[in-house]
Amino acid sequence: MIALRENIAEMAGYVPGFQPFDVDSYIKLNTNENPYPPSPKVLEAIAKEAGEGLRRYPDAASRLAREEAAKVYGFDPSWIIMANGSDEVLNNLIRACAGEGEEIAFINPSYSYYGTLAEVQGARVRTFGLSESFEPEGIPEHYDGKLFFLTNPNAPLGFTYSQRYIADLAGRLSGVLVVDEAYVDFAEETSLELVRSFDNVVVTRTFSKSYSLAGMRLGLAIARPEIIAALNKIRDHYNLDRLAQAAAAAALADQPYFQECVRKIKETRAWFTAELQQLGYQVIPSSGNFVFASPPDRDGTRIYQGLYDRKILVRHFTDPKLAHGLRISIGSREEMEQTVKALCELGPGR
Ligand SMILES: Cc1ncc(COP(=O)(O)O)c(C=O)c1O
Repeated sequence: MIALRENIAEMAGYVPGFQPFDVDSYIKLNTNENPYPPSPKVLEAIAKEAGEGLRRYPDAASRLAREEAAKVYGFDPSWIIMANGSDEVLNNLIRACAGEGEEIAFINPSYSYYGTLAEVQGARVRTFGLSESFEPEGIPEHYDGKLFFLTNPNAPLGFTYSQRYIADLAGRLSGVLVVDEAYVDFAEETSLELVRSFDNVVVTRTFSKSYSLAGMRLGLAIARPEIIAALNKIRDHYNLDRLAQAAAAAALADQPYFQECVRKIKETRAWFTAELQQLGYQVIPSSGNFVFASPPDRDGTRIYQGLYDRKILVRHFTDPKLAHGLRISIGSREEMEQTVKALCELGPGR
């Protein structure tokens, strides 16, 4: 018998969206990547960094990237930690706050990876469901779990919670509220102000979606310096390599490029949503770079397979709450036109 910890031996592990080797032969709308390349300034910065200096360790504090983030978000750098993808900082938040047997919570459906991270830590997981109108259900007036993850905008459904709701929730928790804003750049409102007004609110961001840098593995968290200091004790000391630090700083510095990409994606999202509705799909109004849509026959598997056969990859979840629909990332206008064409061919079903 190999002496694995029991929870590790027994856990299923997270299954990320399919990444085919021959990725260029697909229209890939299954992992909410950005259809546009990173800013040319990012590519220049990486090229400049990819020299003999790689023999040296990177800056353990990711100072340049944090300083750029401080300018963009309006916080002192002591309130910011850079991460090797936002997944890294989500993991470290659990490690910082929830010991073995202690409870963390999140909404189901949302980002199921929180559950996997908690399992690794040996923490207990509690989930709260959603009403028909996307109100979280059953959260006690005072909840004393160690950590509560709120994905805002929600993924995979795309709706948002109001800032008033999030502030109210923060006040009802004795633990930390992590507002996972992976998709917030495609939405209208952020919870950054709540980080200032509540001592238990942390906001996490990723560069994988709006900054076109999924392949670089970059994220960050904004929180009170006491929380940042705790996270700094836990992370790998060189969690961001030199190329990632250069990329992060350059991406944040090129706000006009970022804003133009976000604008195009929001425009395509509006067009694609209207097209889906024309085809009789039920579409949840989305504040992310994806939409969750159900075909008229509510047979998500049929559409997933039909698109797959046409080399279009989307995300289908087997969870019974989600199996009737599909999460479709917003690609370029041309990719979405081809997707609409394929959906027309697949028809309403039954
Ligand atoms: C809600 C949510 N949070 C976090 C992440 C992880 O992002 P990253 O690529 O920065 O690790 C994702 C990725 O899809 C996500 O959907």
